[in-house]
Amino acid sequence: MKIAIIGQGYVGLTISSFAAEHLEVVGFDSNQKIVDELNLGISHIEGVESSKLQNLIKSGKYKATTKGSDIKGCEIVVIAVPTPLTCNREPDLTYIEAACKTIGENISEPILVINESTSFPGTLRNYIKPMIEKYSSGQIEHLYAISPERVDPGRIDFNQKNTPRLYSGLTSGASIRTRDFYSKFCDNLIEVSSPEVAEAAKLFENTFRQVNIALVNEFAQIAHTLGISVYETLNAANTKPYGFMKFTPSAGVGGHCIPVDPTYLAAVAEEHGVPATFIRRANEVNLEMSKYIVSRVAADHGGNLQGKSVLVVGVAYKPNVADVRETAAELVIQHLRSQGAVVSWHDDLVGNWKGESSAPLQGADITIVVTKHDSVDEKMILASAPYVFDTTGKVKGAKGL
Ligand SMILES: NC(=O)c1ccc[n+]([C@@H]2O[C@H](COP(=O)([O-])OP(=O)(O)OC[C@H]3O[C@@H](n4cnc5c(N)ncnc54)[C@H](O)[C@@H]3O)[C@@H](O)[C@H]2O)c1
Repeated sequence: MKIAIIGQGYVGLTISSFAAEHLEVVGFDSNQKIVDELNLGISHIEGVESSKLQNLIKSGKYKATTKGSDIKGCEIVVIAVPTPLTCNREPDLTYIEAACKTIGENISEPILVINESTSFPGTLRNYIKPMIEKYSSGQIEHLYAISPERVDPGRIDFNQKNTPRLYSGLTSGASIRTRDFYSKFCDNLIEVSSPEVAEAAKLFENTFRQVNIALVNEFAQIAHTLGISVYETLNAANTKPYGFMKFTPSAGVGGHCIPVDPTYLAAVAEEHGVPATFIRRANEVNLEMSKYIVSRVAADHGGNLQGKSVLVVGVAYKPNVADVRETAAELVIQHLRSQGAVVSWHDDLVGNWKGESSAPLQGADITIVVTKHDSVDEKMILASAPYVFDTTGKVKGAKGL
């Protein structure tokens, strides 16, 4: 069986690499550079080894393409394209629409379409299905299903095989085929009663994290004002064996999911006249953390950062990945520069970002740790400036939240 996966990023390439152990996979992506590299066996994401990709290519199980016509003849097409926010921070379904266009224009036989991109409840039924039908010539009765992705890039204890996966089809036929597909490489499949439940569950999972991160970020500010250690307090609370889950404070929340997905839930709620107060406020608290961090550093320097050389350590949104989407480091750097600080950053995993390169880990007046990769030595961080502020709680001996 031949299948296509639209979007060869964190989600699409990961799925491709597992599915291609069992099926022939066409990895369709609109980015020519990514496609060229993939066809050379060079993986651009953590969790998919280049050596594995090279083996799959050699055995004829995987090829990447930018040509829509290459998905012709596929029996299953999985959508794994971005679902970001617009510049007004509203859901942006334009990538989904482009994927639907590719499917509609190139598939002429009935197939199974599975959406893995995160979006609000109703996206599969009210948006993807009609959109594919709009772009198809003639009436083709495809099967439609959703199976939201739960991949956590960089994580090794949970992967496609052992992470339980939700799914639901628009029809029972779609559900059965979806189960059959994922059971080739996933051990635990959980069918829910409708695609809307699966879509909402994905959003709620990430909203749960967003709200709890905001809560602990707010608590960090309260604890500091009261002169209490936030980490000691969290560890103390965490001794309760039930009813508590520990989250840790940070400079904000980054990545393609936690800062974005809850806004999809808020948008659909508000569209239906239900306030999403918690979600909106949590988003604000997390976004404001960067300002708070800079205000704490400034307060330790007589309220004046003008001309100070500040080194931001870690600009990826989380440890041990090179992904900078929605990274809190961006806002920290913006606030520092608006106060006249001379800012550089160190992150060897990211290397180049926004036209700047990673700077050496040394010689600053002030170092602020936003993300601590395992490969970055704590002693070198402490030696990089006379004043080090750590937002991660990992650098012993530094000032911090
Ligand atoms: N990254 C994660 O950890 C994660 C986890 C769970 C769910 N998700 C969700 O999965 C979806 C994809 O996220 P991602 O992290 O893989 O994104 P990504 O940016 O890593 O990859 C998306 C890929 O899609 C390609 N693309 C964009 N438009 C296209 C089009 N019209 N046709 C073909 N390719 C196109 C891009 O070039 C890119 O390579 C999003 O909805 C996201 O919310 C992501």
